[in-house]
Amino acid sequence: MDTPEKKKVIFSAIQPSGTITLGNYLGALRNWVKLQDDYNCIFAVADLHAITVRQEPKKFRENILNAYALLLACGIDTEKSLFFIQSHVHTHAELAWVLNCYTQFGELSRMTQFKDKSLKHADNVNAGLFAYPSLMAADILLYRSDMVPVGADQKQHLELARNIAERFNGVYGNTFTVPDPYISTVGARVMSLQDPTKKMSKSDENVNAWVAVLDKPDTIMKKFKRAVTDSEAEVRVGEGKDGINNLIGIMSAVTGKTSDEITEEFEGKGYGDFKTAVAEAVIEEVKPIQERFDDYIKNKDYLAEQYRKSAEIALKISQRTLDKAMKKIGFIAK
Ligand code: TYM
Repeated sequence: MDTPEKKKVIFSAIQPSGTITLGNYLGALRNWVKLQDDYNCIFAVADLHAITVRQEPKKFRENILNAYALLLACGIDTEKSLFFIQSHVHTHAELAWVLNCYTQFGELSRMTQFKDKSLKHADNVNAGLFAYPSLMAADILLYRSDMVPVGADQKQHLELARNIAERFNGVYGNTFTVPDPYISTVGARVMSLQDPTKKMSKSDENVNAWVAVLDKPDTIMKKFKRAVTDSEAEVRVGEGKDGINNLIGIMSAVTGKTSDEITEEFEGKGYGDFKTAVAEAVIEEVKPIQERFDDYIKNKDYLAEQYRKSAEIALKISQRTLDKAMKKIGFIAK
């Protein structure tokens, strides 16, 4: 009898930063949902990562719970996957400290996100912001993850996680699995609707730059109608057409149509019609998610049951990896 092939392990996480954008959804969350049937999936709300910028306690608590409920609404299924809140599993912070000691100052200094965020929060360039990628490496390595589904903006952090794992394994022998990035071809880089050379980000001060999964239909319509385009009137992928390229990318990710099919469909039509169609497709996509979110967020007990159940199992799995790494370094077992 053939032994069934062991399912590969997937890990990914999202920060509870208040708003979950269409970028998060198309670049990451939607893929997580699809991967659940074929992989051993482990997902987390990365609340420890979020305190690298100042959080207001009441709002922070709300954001964490909202992110948890919204991911369930997107289709993360706790019957199939583990889905917990990062700070509930103490091994993450512990391994992060260990990995900090195997991560070089120079490597962390080169991280684009660190450079961007330290400009943005110049009054609070804290050590956590700097060491953020080693916490992310800990998240991933604790579960011996084979693959990490993320948007393109996280690629550099993932490469660092791989380097840390290889370095540690090089010194102590095989301890961590070296993870591969999983970056989908559609939706991996959803751009700002106001400056389509920049990624869509919830931290953008211009609220018209991003669409939130929980935005009301008329808000979504308004934001797409205001999207920056170009002076031509041709719906096609092309150089110097960043705005339209982005809208075609979103349309393609949401409807499954190719860019050629979209170009054909909108031949002879103006940008106004196209923007309305993209908005309508997005509204249609998020509608059932919004309805499920409204149900989940009312049921705090159910949410607590789910995140506690997953955290308990995650702790057991991750503790084994942490213990192994600590033992290799020479710490004395408890
Ligand atoms: P975060 O919370 O910024 O984003 C969550 C996921 O959304 C993707 N994403 C995008 N994809 C396409 N277009 C965009 N405009 C866009 N904006 C965001 C991100 O690539 C990400 O996949 N550090 C991580 C969270 C994290 C993590 C981890 C991820 C913590 N530990 C371990 C993977 C593995 C972050 O801040 O993602």
